[in-house]
Amino acid sequence: MRTQHSQEYFQQAQQVLVGGVNSPVRSFKSVRGQPIVMKYGRGSKLYDYDNNAWTDYCLSWGALILGHAHPNVVLSAKRTLEKGASFGTTTREEIEIARHITAQVPSIELIRFVNSGTEATMSAIRLARGFTGRDTIVKFDGCYHGHFDDLLTAAGSGVAQLKKSSSLGIPRNHIDNTISLPYNDVVVLEQTLAKHKNAIACVIIEPVAGNMGVIPAKPEFLRRLRELTKQYGIILIFDEVMTGFRTSTGCAQADYGVTPDLTCLGKIIGAGFPVGAYGGHKDIMQNLAPLGGVYQAGTFSGNPVVMRAGLTGLRLLNEAFYKRLNDRCAAFAEDINGYFQTHDIPAHIAHYRSMMSIRFRNEPVINYADAQAASGGERYARLFQHLLNAGIYWPPADLEAFFVSSMHTKKDLEALAQALKDFFAKNA
Ligand SMILES: Cc1ncc(COP(=O)(O)O)c(C=O)c1O
Repeated sequence: MRTQHSQEYFQQAQQVLVGGVNSPVRSFKSVRGQPIVMKYGRGSKLYDYDNNAWTDYCLSWGALILGHAHPNVVLSAKRTLEKGASFGTTTREEIEIARHITAQVPSIELIRFVNSGTEATMSAIRLARGFTGRDTIVKFDGCYHGHFDDLLTAAGSGVAQLKKSSSLGIPRNHIDNTISLPYNDVVVLEQTLAKHKNAIACVIIEPVAGNMGVIPAKPEFLRRLRELTKQYGIILIFDEVMTGFRTSTGCAQADYGVTPDLTCLGKIIGAGFPVGAYGGHKDIMQNLAPLGGVYQAGTFSGNPVVMRAGLTGLRLLNEAFYKRLNDRCAAFAEDINGYFQTHDIPAHIAHYRSMMSIRFRNEPVINYADAQAASGGERYARLFQHLLNAGIYWPPADLEAFFVSSMHTKKDLEALAQALKDFFAKNA
């Protein structure tokens, strides 16, 4: 692939943007080489300034379940924009998307829209603290909930590369209030919640972790977590920023049959536009301003263009849609895993519906320690470069999930399967 124009643009970007990017993982730091500067997207493909087409499995970090530039989404965004970009008032668009989400996700009775997943988790935690009058929060190692100070401890995703899995610039007292536990470990969970029950405001969890590769929570772990949090009056927050409307119409909570108190959403509900939301039971949500004393606000929150585009996208997602997409992904993973087994290759594809990741070992991965042990490091960098050479754009970091959209054809997935097999045949 010739990427000369990308290289020139990235040089320019580095002169005016920090590291040439607006989010660190885009920099290709852990996979070597130079980022590709994209010009436009259509369906399953991204196109760069050298007119290369890339089959995109990053999909704006999971937001684009309908692929790039879905015509319905584009049209609805255009029509809404023609009436004005932002009013700073309540709009019909907000009411309609709120109705749609509350109908699909029964645990959400009232919802508040914000502008990113980070804002959603940060605000949900503030609400949980305000509601319970407690300060401590519990999270799980390797789960990523955005770049909120209190949550940047033992986080996955791009943060996993930073020393101590944290960040500079975070006051000690923010992390002091955060307890991070191993994912999927019922015993440690029971002990910790029993010990700190009077101090813990909330437990926040990705019900299917997607930021240490893909790790579905064990059903018994989530059920026990629900029982214990109920027993101790602790708010259970499901961070479904990635899983929300990715797995099914009712999100991961419907798949598991476990109902959280609060749910955070993002990514897919904006159909590619910047968005976040959090919602839950009325009794808790009514503690938010203007009804209650927990303050949270936003100039662009509930922006009509975002809301209309998001709703247009959500309306295209139904059971038949998920069945088709999820079956296609299951067949893909089965094919690759069968190949790995037959050829004695120590790797597997871990997947939950259309969220997937590659693991550089056969044994299952159930927590962050496993995820690190199963990461490829230098091999992932080589795999990433190998896929680029085959015209395939994967997430440029080992622990990120890759995603499939409804626009990925059987042919696209066959090409990915072949490229993976070629790589592992030579690098087993
Ligand atoms: C599970 C989860 N929560 C929260 C976030 C933060 O969302 P945003 O990047 O929109 O702030 C992410 C982002 O990848 C995520 O995967």
